[in-house]
Amino acid sequence: MKPESRYQEYKTLMGRIADLDFANAVLGWDQQVYMPKNGSEGRGRQMATLSTFSHELFTSGKLEGILRDLAEEQNLDDSQRFNVQRTLKDVLRKKKYSEAFVEEMALTTSKAFGAWHEARTKRDFKVFEPLLAKIVELKRQEAEFLGYEEHPYNALVEDYEPGLRVSRIDEVFDQVKRELFPFTREIAARFKPDTSFLAKTFPKEKQWEFSKRIIEKMGYDFESGRADDAPHPFCTTFAPGDVRITIRSAENEFNMMLFAAVHEAGHALYELGLPQREQYGLPLGSALSMAFHESQSRFWENSIGRSLPFWKGQYGTLQKLFPENLAGVSLADFYRGVNAVEPSFIRVEADELTYHAHIYIRYLIEKALMSREIEVKDIPSFWNDRYQEYLGIRPSHDGEGCLQDVHWSYGSFGYFPTYSFGSFYAAQLHAAMKRDLPDFDGKVERGEFSAILKWLREKVHVHGKRYSSDELLTRVTGEPLNGNHFMSGMRVKYGALG
Ligand code: CO
Repeated sequence: MKPESRYQEYKTLMGRIADLDFANAVLGWDQQVYMPKNGSEGRGRQMATLSTFSHELFTSGKLEGILRDLAEEQNLDDSQRFNVQRTLKDVLRKKKYSEAFVEEMALTTSKAFGAWHEARTKRDFKVFEPLLAKIVELKRQEAEFLGYEEHPYNALVEDYEPGLRVSRIDEVFDQVKRELFPFTREIAARFKPDTSFLAKTFPKEKQWEFSKRIIEKMGYDFESGRADDAPHPFCTTFAPGDVRITIRSAENEFNMMLFAAVHEAGHALYELGLPQREQYGLPLGSALSMAFHESQSRFWENSIGRSLPFWKGQYGTLQKLFPENLAGVSLADFYRGVNAVEPSFIRVEADELTYHAHIYIRYLIEKALMSREIEVKDIPSFWNDRYQEYLGIRPSHDGEGCLQDVHWSYGSFGYFPTYSFGSFYAAQLHAAMKRDLPDFDGKVERGEFSAILKWLREKVHVHGKRYSSDELLTRVTGEPLNGNHFMSGMRVKYGALG
């Protein structure tokens, strides 16, 4: 058969797999956004069926056969060759999962989600402990059959940031411990802005009016997406040209909706900037990694949304929308308020500086569980001791401690470090963008985000999975990840603030 038609067969098969996965995403989105409670059992089954079909197509001998033929083929262009090699690698990894393992993991995590929810409500780790112990045991098995060098945790991180290793994560966090933690303590001790005006009543519709205006200015197009309320903010892709976001809000917490909307729109702009039409369902049409995805959301949320130039440009509009709350609050005081730094228990509510202590603690726990240095029963005391050590606070119950995040109930181990790496990548991209784009701060102040989005589209989004994170950073910024960009950015910002 001609190589072109063999490649066409590969594309067709990958397209079908993507159809199933995107259809599943619609069901998952509806489950979180609109589905009535009693629909959950049927929905769970339907989603499992679609995942199974997708998994079967992906690991079928048919796809592997096509890929092996194409891998020998001399007449493919670079992009085709890349897609083939990358897909073959992914297929071989997925094939290591036995049906029995996949089933047991699915069964355990579906029970674990309910148990986690109940445990968190009751603030009682014991309710979740047996199922979490089972999940950890399964994750240890998973690392063994996937294979790894140096540390079993490496096998799991591979799903979220390919190529990232414990040795590198430790190196990056050593700098965080050495420089960021002492700096954070120093800032938290002396920078105590008034934040009371952020807790006044901000009617939801008006908050949305402002948030929508901002994300549209960023370039999020409601012809290619929509926003709905959900208990947890997220971004999900249904098709090229249909990337949805969800947001949550509280009328007496101004920070919640706006920054969630900007964050999720950042994820959505990345998805919309990928060449998903030409490379539908293929590696070159898909996001590089979870960590790089997070770099896009954090860039918009922190480097833009929490910056002084941004608020110089937007604060007047916000004041006019909420005169009773903000008329007497100066721009400087508002900017200080949205950048307050304070050790707190809940990760998702943490500020830009203390955030990384939350991540580091979760990383230490996951790594120690995988190497069997600790067991699941040890998590609450290990967690609380580390909060005391790194944030100077001790949770009074597990609901504000080790039960706050949903990730472990899903079996997601190795995900947390990507949140910090995403922030560090974002800071490095921000520094490069400031060098590349003349009058960067002026553009941000005037709300002219099109040059910024264009820069991200051309330098980052268009490449899909073609490069590793360090390769892409090197192409775009001149060097692989360098934590100094984040540190010096924070020193400049908080030096001026506090
Ligand atoms: Co995110």
